[in-house]
Amino acid sequence: MEKYRLIITIDGPAGAGKSTVARKLAKRLGFQFLNTGAMYRAIALAAIQAGVDWSNATQLARTAEAVKLRIEGDQVFLNDVDVSEEIRTAEVTEKTRFIADHPQIRGELVALQRSIAEQENYVTDGRDQGTVAFPDAAWKFFLTASPEERARRRQRDLKAKGQHATEEELLKQQTLRDEQDTNREVGALRKAEDAIEVCSDHLTLMEVVDKLERIVRKKETPE
Ligand code: DC
Repeated sequence: MEKYRLIITIDGPAGAGKSTVARKLAKRLGFQFLNTGAMYRAIALAAIQAGVDWSNATQLARTAEAVKLRIEGDQVFLNDVDVSEEIRTAEVTEKTRFIADHPQIRGELVALQRSIAEQENYVTDGRDQGTVAFPDAAWKFFLTASPEERARRRQRDLKAKGQHATEEELLKQQTLRDEQDTNREVGALRKAEDAIEVCSDHLTLMEVVDKLERIVRKKETPE
């Protein structure tokens, strides 16, 4: 029997507000929410814990195969341990590229994303959701913001957690991640041809959610 489910994908660079927007949009529409970056981060954490040699692709693949990854809304479990906070550290952020650059691991994670989204309606966010994971998604969004605005938002988020970083430092790290994300061989950050691009520079994230919701509910046609 054919499976009926609706998928909305939100791709875009780091710091554009994808996860916040995806989570809130899902809630408004009564959809589930899947943050695919958390999957890459969780495998990176498993590799850190295993003390892998990051240049050894076979070791990385074995680590990924050996872990039990479970996602429940915003919670991420690695071998049944809740690692939702741990996957957000600077060390994990830095090492995640080795996982995201690994074509075999990407293939496995995309398969997992598809199987999770098989039976229910989902809003998913990531880099390759509209291009690779769900090319037949009902709506595809590409959420952007200027590098400066993204860095300022990141700075505010860190401040709320009691951490300090200069805008210059954050811009540098962000530019590096943008380069890594757009240049990887498989699953690179790219706007799907049929994705609707939304720039959030002059909008609050709530206004972005409103806009996406209006488009999905067909009250507004994208310009
Ligand atoms: O969205 P995020 O910053 O939590 O993602 C962490 C890293 O994982 C990011 O640098 C790129 C990678 N990623 C990816 O390659 N494909 C995805 N679908 C999601 C994330």
